[in-house]
Amino acid sequence: MAKEFALIGCGNMGTAIAKGIVAAGLIAPFDIVVSDVNEASQQRLAAELGCSGTCDNVDAVRDAHIVLIAVKPQYLDSVVRGFADAVAPDALVVSIAAGVTLERLEGLLGKTRKIVRVMPNLPAMVLAGMSSLTPNANVAADEIAHVRELFESFGRAEIVPEHLIDAVIAASGSSPAYVCVFIEALADAAVAEGMPRAQAYTFAEQAVLGTAKYLLETGTHPAVLKDMVSSPAGTTIEAVAALEAGGMRAAVIDAARAAAARNRAM
Ligand SMILES: NC(=O)c1ccc[n+]([C@@H]2O[C@H](COP(=O)([O-])OP(=O)(O)OC[C@H]3O[C@@H](n4cnc5c(N)ncnc54)[C@H](OP(=O)(O)O)[C@@H]3O)[C@@H](O)[C@H]2O)c1
Repeated sequence: MAKEFALIGCGNMGTAIAKGIVAAGLIAPFDIVVSDVNEASQQRLAAELGCSGTCDNVDAVRDAHIVLIAVKPQYLDSVVRGFADAVAPDALVVSIAAGVTLERLEGLLGKTRKIVRVMPNLPAMVLAGMSSLTPNANVAADEIAHVRELFESFGRAEIVPEHLIDAVIAASGSSPAYVCVFIEALADAAVAEGMPRAQAYTFAEQAVLGTAKYLLETGTHPAVLKDMVSSPAGTTIEAVAALEAGGMRAAVIDAARAAAARNRAM
């Protein structure tokens, strides 16, 4: 089964990535094979994408140019050992498994392999992901550029050295959870002021989305936007002062660094 792209693991992230790549027209469905231990999962995704599906990882990776590993980290070693010998010598092997280092992947696949370690995040599922890409020494510049193009089909992607992956976890890998805590708190405040709960979430969620979109699209510094919306003796500066009094900045830094520290320890 010689295909351009083989996906191993048709769960949440594997599905989001394959759908992004196909929707962007970067790889044609006939050049994709998806594989999963669960027959129903691979059949569902293969039908959705119009590509081939299998439960045989060895068959999937044979002669593929790009192999994307999207299984849970605890299954990674046994899954990779199961197909490593069938991967073509010049194939690009891309792993999104959290906490699995290039050294460990090279130990499983061989030191001469072209390997890219990627850390995406959950908003990939709505084409708004943020991914870090870390190639090993065998990956050429045009090859990592191609992988970057694939990951930009469902969001943004940046190339980072491996020692910065803990920072990636802090800023984007784990941050959807703490952004949700902030959104819940904003909505709680609106509910306390009398707004119905569902409407409160809509206001809070759109405000967070719109603020991030404004910063990304205009390149405005966050401090500049904060100053723009904080008029003298106005409502917003009262809220900013209360946040500073509550230690929000320090709390967020501590929270994100706790995520980084946990990732380092894993
Ligand atoms: N979710 C996130 O926000 C996120 C963010 C960054 C990185 N990641 C990484 O992405 C990877 C996938 O996460 P996920 O959330 O997408 O997990 P998931 O939804 O559980 O998907 C993993 C898929 O792999 C399948 N699988 C298990 N053993 C297999 C095997 N031997 N051969 C082929 N497929 C097999 C699973 O099938 P069964 O369900 O039947 O076991 C499941 O369909 C993980 O390594 C995680 O660290 C996830």
